[in-house]
Amino acid sequence: MFGLTPARRAAAAVAASAAVTVTALFTAPSAAAAPQPVVGGTATTTSAYPFVMQITDVSGNQFCGGTLVAARKVVTAAHCMVGETTGGVRVVGGRTFLNGTDGTVSTVSGIWIDPDYTDATRGDDVAVITLSTSMPYKAAPYASPSDTGVYAAGTTARILGWGTTSESGGSSNQLRTATVPVVADSGCADSYGSDFVASDMVCAGYTSGGVDTCQGDSGGPLIIGGVLAGITSWGNGCAEAGYPGVYTRLTAFSGLVTAQVGS
Ligand code: ARG
Repeated sequence: MFGLTPARRAAAAVAASAAVTVTALFTAPSAAAAPQPVVGGTATTTSAYPFVMQITDVSGNQFCGGTLVAARKVVTAAHCMVGETTGGVRVVGGRTFLNGTDGTVSTVSGIWIDPDYTDATRGDDVAVITLSTSMPYKAAPYASPSDTGVYAAGTTARILGWGTTSESGGSSNQLRTATVPVVADSGCADSYGSDFVASDMVCAGYTSGGVDTCQGDSGGPLIIGGVLAGITSWGNGCAEAGYPGVYTRLTAFSGLVTAQVGS
């Protein structure tokens, strides 16, 4: 299923087995999958991007990202939250490094998963976490249902996360970021066929690959024009030529998110 891994407690620990699966599925992986730093990015900080949250287990192991959209509300991917319980998840804000002890750790009082979610490649990959403690960080605005213009092909989008820095590599201790162009829906359908559900997903990445989100970045933000416009969801491997990253098309879900933010 295009290298998609379900939410895992230790993204780094499963990276190796995920890579084996990818190799088994694709006997001729792209030679151009550039093994660089997110893949192909640069190190950054939560001071620069205060809305970026680590989602961890109770031991502090990061397994997904999230975006603070209100003091006590975090948007993430449904596939990150499936099988999780409020007692088993923590959200960490203001912590640039995975091994840091700074920032704010909140327990979770609610997890809403889009009730239509079944699998990331079928869409509906959105969840909203309610925090027990307010995060003292600036929340990100998110795209409204009418903001569909943000997805014009070629528009620059920013990706962020602590995920693996290559398809078969380990997680990054420091938050990373990169920019990637939005891909036309027709182009993404060419890559992924019927697994690309245009109503629910948007793709971003270079035709030649090299820059992408990867395992562990899921649930984190795709920022376009200063607003949260996507959620890291899935892809075929990472940064492979011809296979852009697939993100939840937030405009299709902002009504649902707003209902949760107000609840
Ligand atoms: N499903 C992955 C996760 O759980 C994210 C994969 C993104 N892949 C990509 N090629 N953009 O972390």
